[in-house]
Amino acid sequence: MSFDVGRVRAAYPALAEGFVHFDGAAGTLVAAPVADAVAATMRTAVGNRTTVFEPGRRSGRIVAAARDAVADLVGGDPAGVAFGPSATALTYSVARALADTWAPGDDVVVSRLDHDANVRPWVQAAARAGVTVRWAEFDPDTGALPAEQYRDLIGERTRVVALTAASNAIGTRPDVATVAALAHAKGALVYVDGVHATAHLPTDVAALGADFYVTSAYKWSGPHLAACVAAPATWATLAPDKLSPSPDAVPDRFEWGTLSFELLAGIRAAVDHLAGLDPAAEGSRRARVLASVAAAHAHTRELFAALIAGLRAIDGVTALPAPAGGCPTVSFRLDAEPPEATATALGDQRICVYAGDYYAYEYFRAMGLRDTGGAVRASIYHYNTAEEVGRFLDAVARRAAERTLRLGVGAGDHIDAHEGSTA
Ligand SMILES: Cc1ncc(COP(=O)(O)O)c(C=O)c1O
Repeated sequence: MSFDVGRVRAAYPALAEGFVHFDGAAGTLVAAPVADAVAATMRTAVGNRTTVFEPGRRSGRIVAAARDAVADLVGGDPAGVAFGPSATALTYSVARALADTWAPGDDVVVSRLDHDANVRPWVQAAARAGVTVRWAEFDPDTGALPAEQYRDLIGERTRVVALTAASNAIGTRPDVATVAALAHAKGALVYVDGVHATAHLPTDVAALGADFYVTSAYKWSGPHLAACVAAPATWATLAPDKLSPSPDAVPDRFEWGTLSFELLAGIRAAVDHLAGLDPAAEGSRRARVLASVAAAHAHTRELFAALIAGLRAIDGVTALPAPAGGCPTVSFRLDAEPPEATATALGDQRICVYAGDYYAYEYFRAMGLRDTGGAVRASIYHYNTAEEVGRFLDAVARRAAERTLRLGVGAGDHIDAHEGSTA
């Protein structure tokens, strides 16, 4: 396994601006080959899909290549890769199509750890169909989502279990495979939000037990476009609203309107780029993706351990609890300072971190932190460095010291969040 962060950074021209990007959980920078592929496609004769002239055949090939690429990234059948503008949009349309098959008395299971994009579409579809919503709860002291609770939550009438592969707030990786086995034993479908996880973890949708797996390319060096992956036979059970003349084949019938061919070319380039992160990786693109993402994760895990240890050592910082082994993403607060003020102070030093609830709406509500501004989120991506972690920790420590001097804030003024392990 080999990973050279200097070599990797050279592929991201935007890094030359000098910002520290700990905002990857909200969207990463785009790799140069991705931008080049998008631009090249826009400069090439590409027509709408048809078999009767070459530029129209080209767009067909672009779509097919993008389906192959996503299948190589997450596993699964290229013929089951449906594209859409965002994970949110795709989840809404899958939820709507599935809800057409539900009846009163059925239920769906969602979790309070999830991004709202994998909660509200199910809650709203359930309300329209007269279906019950059951909630899986995370443990506020550890940030874990115990899989055992699903034994009680999933029943004979459960139609869908919607669950994240990783929390975009605290990085927790629920035991999706165990939950999926429980769901499948009762005949329920499993819809997995892989938007946060895909960037960090070698992914195999079959091993996860995901009937549907949604991912957004802008979280993994690609363009603003998303894909939902399912077996073609699973797609075939659903009949979404669609135009009369548009293709009825799967997955095409889930792809409303004309696809963004240029961005699809970018998706293929992004997966090729990810496959090359570890130059020693060999074999098929799928094999190289798995090896490269694992090598990148080893790098980010190391940085993250240093970041967590450093944050813990700063007086006044409270990191929200998360179990070990999660994605390299942490939420924290600096004593009672509004998170947006902390993030702005860091932003003024060209360090990009998010503040708020980042749409992990139920999580922050359950933690009692939503009304006071949520938290500050730092997430590590493979182009980050140890030097950047140092810059970030220095900036947080300076901010903490300034506040102590200015406000006379002491240890007693920490926020009332659950203390626990965050690494
Ligand atoms: C875990 C998670 N799920 C879903 C989404 C929504 O993705 P999209 O912007 O593609 O709708 C996000 C975006 O931040 C996310 O982090």
